[in-house]
Amino acid sequence: MVIFGAAGDLTKRLVVPALYNLVGAQRLPDEFRIVGVDLASKTDEEWRAGLTEMMQSFVGGEGEFAVDQINKTAWQWLTDRMSYVQGDLNDPQTYHQLDADLVKLDKTAGTAGNRLFYLAIADRFFSVAVGGLGSAGLVTESNGQWRRVVIEKPFGHDLNSAKALNAEILKHLQEHQIYRIDHFLGKETVQNIMALRFANGLFEPMWNREHIDHVQITAAETVGVEHRGKFYEKTGALRDMVPNHVFQLLAMTAMEPPISFDADAVRAKKAEVIQAVRPPDPARDAVRGQYDAGTVLGKAVKAYRQEPDVASDSNTETYIACKLQIDNWRWAGVPFYLRTGKYLKRRVTEIAIRVHQAPFTLFRGTDVERMHPNWMILRIQPGEGIGLEFAAKRPGPSMKLSNVALDFAYEDYFKTAPNTGYETLLYDCMIGDATLFQRADNIEAGWAAVQPILDLWGSKPPSSFPNYAAGGDGPAEADELLARDRRAWRPLDLTKHR
Ligand code: BG6
Repeated sequence: MVIFGAAGDLTKRLVVPALYNLVGAQRLPDEFRIVGVDLASKTDEEWRAGLTEMMQSFVGGEGEFAVDQINKTAWQWLTDRMSYVQGDLNDPQTYHQLDADLVKLDKTAGTAGNRLFYLAIADRFFSVAVGGLGSAGLVTESNGQWRRVVIEKPFGHDLNSAKALNAEILKHLQEHQIYRIDHFLGKETVQNIMALRFANGLFEPMWNREHIDHVQITAAETVGVEHRGKFYEKTGALRDMVPNHVFQLLAMTAMEPPISFDADAVRAKKAEVIQAVRPPDPARDAVRGQYDAGTVLGKAVKAYRQEPDVASDSNTETYIACKLQIDNWRWAGVPFYLRTGKYLKRRVTEIAIRVHQAPFTLFRGTDVERMHPNWMILRIQPGEGIGLEFAAKRPGPSMKLSNVALDFAYEDYFKTAPNTGYETLLYDCMIGDATLFQRADNIEAGWAAVQPILDLWGSKPPSSFPNYAAGGDGPAEADELLARDRRAWRPLDLTKHR
């Protein structure tokens, strides 16, 4: 495995810890080797030492990848297999040097000519690196040896740039060699949506417009822009989250059953449902927001415009809500409302499915004033699980109803080791299973669906930024988006997490 961007943040925080977990799970063969490539001048030893320091910082930490202690044997196993190449991505010499090193490893370590190139680098270098690899003959597959390239997000910044990037990399690679990552697909709960729908007789019969009133997909964060002002200023919440992560949730929820779990069968169904998204009327169906100063989880925080590397009159959105319609037989007339934003009240990523209301007829003349809606909640994070909300009769002589819940929590059934979410993704690249990766058509369909919003927002500056207080529910206009349809968002703090 070759990691471009070996000295970068992503390598240290996610890729290498994920490899370490794969060692612990005994998923890596003895012949496995890692070559790091970066511009910084470092010895093999210095590169390893920097990574070791990072690993130690996870011990006793609080993040998702907090570990009690580092397993010394596993870490040693991994670091023993690491070497470093200093090089500039623009310099052909880098690739020749790399080639020579890899050929040597084939002989000394038995790596058998199979290569996984991981581009943990800024997106403007994706095509540079692929071009360099291509020109040096490093991605040519022959004699049964595979060559694969993993590409991080962002994949383009709109439809045209995504198409151009695809065209550029496809000059050197075939589609089956490209693994475009969307880390949401590494989340067990996202993968579980398929199991929920297709491994049970209970849900799929009601999974359509006959039974479902609407769907709400929420990815609310309690972090702000952090130290990523430079990146975020030109990206914004829509590009950062919607055509990729939020659409993964949408596709998993709304896709037709594939004919098998074969990568292309699954990805074809996902592309199809995203392609069926009707172009939204952005003036009517999309709302943007930017956070003002406020209090998040008890801590006072600055407005977005005061963040480092952010313009004091920035028009970049940190929140988006939109209403989408999927123009196919299953979903005609069922709106999908999406929202995502930074510095909101509560961290919650979930898909809430609202079932049609039962008729009131029978309850007329009873003490029941209104019917309670049925909801099915797919909790992606935190408190991973699935909840079902329905009405029950309250004990007592008269007919009164309360909403009650059936709840499945992952932690009650399955014990999982701390993980970064990259383990499955990395392992799948190594075994050549592309199911959890984005094909070119998936990526382009995502951009095409949001392009009308990008176009309008790009040409018309917002008039009311900042328009929501950090630590709140988002802008009031987002509530109006649903109120117009006589619906309302589920409050962010409604779903109970343990
Ligand atoms: C990243 C975005 O892709 O996903 C971030 O660039 C965002 O802005 C993150 O915070 C959310 O991922 P997760 O796994 O923390 O929900």
